[in-house]
Amino acid sequence: MNETISSETRFLHAVEFGLGAWQWGDRLIWQYGQTHTEEDCRAAFEVSMAAGIRFVDTAEVYGSGRSERLLGKFLKETDQPVLVATKFLPFPWRLRKKSLIRALKGSLERIGVESVDLYQVHQPLPPIPIETWMESMAEAVKQGLTRTVGVSNYNQSQMLRAYSALARKSVPLAANQVTYSLLNRAIEKEGLLARCNELGVRVIAYSPIEKGLLTGKYSTENPPPGIRGQRYSSLLPKIGPLLKLMTAIGQEHGGKSKTQVALNWCICKGTMPIPGAKNAAQAEENAGALGWRLTEEEVAKLDQASDAALK
Ligand SMILES: NC(=O)c1ccc[n+]([C@@H]2O[C@H](COP(=O)([O-])OP(=O)(O)OC[C@H]3O[C@@H](n4cnc5c(N)ncnc54)[C@H](OP(=O)(O)O)[C@@H]3O)[C@@H](O)[C@H]2O)c1
Repeated sequence: MNETISSETRFLHAVEFGLGAWQWGDRLIWQYGQTHTEEDCRAAFEVSMAAGIRFVDTAEVYGSGRSERLLGKFLKETDQPVLVATKFLPFPWRLRKKSLIRALKGSLERIGVESVDLYQVHQPLPPIPIETWMESMAEAVKQGLTRTVGVSNYNQSQMLRAYSALARKSVPLAANQVTYSLLNRAIEKEGLLARCNELGVRVIAYSPIEKGLLTGKYSTENPPPGIRGQRYSSLLPKIGPLLKLMTAIGQEHGGKSKTQVALNWCICKGTMPIPGAKNAAQAEENAGALGWRLTEEEVAKLDQASDAALK
């Protein structure tokens, strides 16, 4: 066990996998109400629980609070203990330190819990300095409103500022939630992943199947709908060889799908993937990334194919 991991945050390092809940209620990117309903989200949650997944990531802004409310409903319906992570967005009009505690209380009310397990600053947005928000975070821990503190989308220097500001209050930085997949390896290339490991900060990998691209269901001829289609128009033509390798590697493991290979690769790299699922079938497939491991050689081959796709 890494000596730098503090006793307060150790539980997060034991969590291998989580469920992302941005899809629950978001209409703009994820077409909630058109491609999936509350019942579908409930089924995704239930299937994940049945598969032993016990960590759910949401945010106050997902579906303007709808994701937190749906999670609250589903938590009431289960007898399983679930670790809950949510996020604070430093909107530019949030200029006072106490707005973080107020926002957290709003999240707690929507989720229907007295405290969360991880409260994260969603983005390192100006104008309020990182240190100020970390002081509020330390206060949130002191008040028992969150068990641990995380950040999200922080680069190395921003993370170090958060880490030091929290350390002054004797609070460990538990996690940095960042984008990471076979099609986005910036945190590996820029040294953020290694730095997190050195500091005992858990890396939570968001968009681990690159918003559906690594499932293999999208192509240039069949791009993802809406904003995603535009965003990935230049990447889609380059991912064929990587997808082919993922299929071949999945076969070696008794017919694991590309999605499962993509998620297992994140786990092998020491991160906690939190794929979003719109329905039971997606959640079921994603959970199939657990209980087996890619070999080191396979990880190296996937790295090479991903480098070639990203060139
Ligand atoms: N901190 C941040 O700034 C931040 C940013 C983004 C996400 N996140 C968190 O990370 C979570 C995951 O990231 P993400 O939602 O961006 O991307 P993702 O997990 O890479 O992709 C999720 C999307 O892929 C498709 N999908 C998922 N499982 C599938 C399966 N088994 N088969 C086929 N399609 C499947 C679904 O969309 P379609 O069916 O429409 O293709 C689903 O909405 C979010 O829910 C959220 O909790 C955090």
